[in-house]
Amino acid sequence: MLIIKIGGSVITDKNQYKKLKIDNLENIINELPKKDFILIHGAGSFGHYLSEIHNLNGGILNNEKYFSIVSKDVLELNNIILDKLIENGINSISLPIHSFHIVGSEFNTNLFEKYLRLNFIPVTFGDIILNPKTGLSICSGDQIAFHLSKYFRPEKVIFVTDVDGIYDRDPRIEGARLIEEIKGNDNISFGKRGNDVTGGMENKFRVINGIVKLGIPVYVLNGNEKGRLFNAIYDKEFVGTKVMP
Ligand SMILES: Nc1ncnc2c1ncn2[C@@H]1O[C@H](COP(=O)(O)OP(=O)(O)O)[C@@H](O)[C@H]1O
Ligand SMILES: [Mg+2]
Repeated sequence: MLIIKIGGSVITDKNQYKKLKIDNLENIINELPKKDFILIHGAGSFGHYLSEIHNLNGGILNNEKYFSIVSKDVLELNNIILDKLIENGINSISLPIHSFHIVGSEFNTNLFEKYLRLNFIPVTFGDIILNPKTGLSICSGDQIAFHLSKYFRPEKVIFVTDVDGIYDRDPRIEGARLIEEIKGNDNISFGKRGNDVTGGMENKFRVINGIVKLGIPVYVLNGNEKGRLFNAIYDKEFVGTKVMP
């Protein structure tokens, strides 16, 4: 089986509140397999936009209303994605982690496994969850990919994002070079996180290293470009980064 994470940056415009990039979403869904994978999506501007303004990363600080709004907004994005998946013949079931996971507790994979066994595609997403220390906090889709990888040991994990892959430095810096293949833990420098409260590519790379340490290859590729996800899924040549155990 596979675990595929679609970055919020590629299906939404992170600079505009709740702005969907519908063409990208449809192209990506078109390239997905029909069975035997778990789909995770980011929150993009359905989450990060208000989270940044109302400091949701710092926990509950008189901002309860915005936790509620963001929690609802990411469900809205999830619902749009489910609509498109079902339209494309992918029988999916949403498993929002705020309804069963708490920071610091073991991640419960039981339902994921049961739905997979019935040939449904479990879909989950970066979400707001209970945190025993701060009240609530944000759990990124990237972190969820790690929890699920630990249990399911997929053939590979694919991160679809808004740049071609992992670069040797921030791709916005002139001269940045795309890394085609690396081992986990190579030295890479990362640009500031921009509008991503869960830490952008730098945190993503930390998560990727965790997955690679489990012996699972991880691919990072650009979802703005047609065909790359498809090629990566079927192990044909693709433009992107392979992080190998
Ligand atoms: N060394 C690097 N390689 C690739 N991307 C980087 C690097 N440093 C910073 N970035 C930035 O990280 C962004 C991807 O992270 P993020 O916005 O969190 O994506 P996602 O929505 O997929 O989680 C890219 O748009 C890129 O500008
Ligand atoms: Mg991100």
